[in-house]
Amino acid sequence: MKYRTIIEPFRIHSIQAIDLPDQAQREAALQRAGYNLFGLHADEVIIDLLTDSGTGAMSSEQWAGMMRGDESYAGSRSFFRFESVVKDITGLPEVIPTHQGRAAEKILFSVAVKEGDVVPNNTHFDTTRANVEYQGAEARDLVVAEGTDPAAILPFKGNMDIDRLRATIGEVGADRVPLVMVTVTNNSGGGQPVSMANLRDVRAVCDEFGVPFYLDACRFAENAWFIKMREPGYENKTPREIAREMFSLVDGATMSAKKDGLSNIGGFLATTNPDLAANARNLLILTEGFPTYGGLAGYDLEAVAVGLEEVLDENYLRYRIRSTAYLAETVAAEGVPIVQPPGGHAVYLDAAGLLPHIPPHQYPAQSLAIELYLAGGVRGVEIGTVMFGKPDPDGGPDTPAPMELVRLAIPRRTYTQSHIDYTAEVVIDVAQRAESLSGLTITQQPPWLRHFTAKFAPLD
Ligand SMILES: Cc1ncc(COP(=O)(O)O)c(C=O)c1O
Repeated sequence: MKYRTIIEPFRIHSIQAIDLPDQAQREAALQRAGYNLFGLHADEVIIDLLTDSGTGAMSSEQWAGMMRGDESYAGSRSFFRFESVVKDITGLPEVIPTHQGRAAEKILFSVAVKEGDVVPNNTHFDTTRANVEYQGAEARDLVVAEGTDPAAILPFKGNMDIDRLRATIGEVGADRVPLVMVTVTNNSGGGQPVSMANLRDVRAVCDEFGVPFYLDACRFAENAWFIKMREPGYENKTPREIAREMFSLVDGATMSAKKDGLSNIGGFLATTNPDLAANARNLLILTEGFPTYGGLAGYDLEAVAVGLEEVLDENYLRYRIRSTAYLAETVAAEGVPIVQPPGGHAVYLDAAGLLPHIPPHQYPAQSLAIELYLAGGVRGVEIGTVMFGKPDPDGGPDTPAPMELVRLAIPRRTYTQSHIDYTAEVVIDVAQRAESLSGLTITQQPPWLRHFTAKFAPLD
């Protein structure tokens, strides 16, 4: 291309109005929500970067696909279209639809994991960790050391630490490791990609110990794009070829189609293991629905089938990864510390670097996320000690998380460059007065996944 500007490779077809609540309305909303941004109503938010999950805009082809939805309870045409696309991209023969990613996790871990087991992952996502722990097993994060250093600029900071993986399986014994999982891209570790070489090394360790290998594949296409851009030997391969190679290295995958399925709902569990698939389908019938719809409407299956094809389009992926990097570069140029290099779906602000005066047990990343909302109505999410810290049973300070981040996740095909410019302005303004921010205390919390519903009070 002659021109530098990478444009959105689509034009807007229908729009949704954004409300513009003022500062007083935002303050009142925060108080009502107990300083938990999950408690806000969508119309109290100006730019919603809480998650990239299920928040993207669908294409006209996906809406057209929805009109073709076949709502037959068993054996619907939509299921076979969905199954054929998933098989084609992944090469995995057993495809089980689920209503979203965590349903696939719940079913996989229910049939494969037992009490006392250890499940290694580069970094477990919150629902993945919770579903492993719910089985009475330990979820162990084994990302490479650079993966928890926000400032280190390296191409594949989502990689699994192969030595620690081998040592872990050796230490606990292969019979207590029901599977190894790798999350692509590594959402809780800054959205960082995993290289093909690392996936190959994990496969080799799994083969050495006879342990199955599963992908948490939510952002497989974004990971494939990073491999194409950064890993020698892949520059001339298509994202589809790269994705196919990634999946060829594993025994199965869980997927939330709310990310790289470009859909508002949906997911799947896919595997090469027919026995595991049979057990999973039995459980699916109990909790999700018949195996040809898995808790989804026929029209949802159609939307995912089309979305999985569209996400592998090079023009889309080039724009997607570039637009995330644009936000990252704009705020970093003004000295805001972020996880470097920027990940695929989100910019992660380094709250520990920005707010060194707030200790982890006073939740610096929660404080930063709240201020971004108060200042400009921008909703991000804390990925730090609120989400991953462990409360002390004796009432002492929480065990801190490895990093204190605020994730600004970019919904797919939803916001324009001016929305992103506005967001950058808000981030830079808040960062410039970071020393005036103070911490919070938790006043109420549930036993699982506390970040969704905990209530906070500001200190001071
Ligand atoms: C890496 C990862 N795994 C699993 C999930 C769970 O997917 P879902 O929200 O569809 O249940 C998510 C959702 O954000 C995720 O990012």
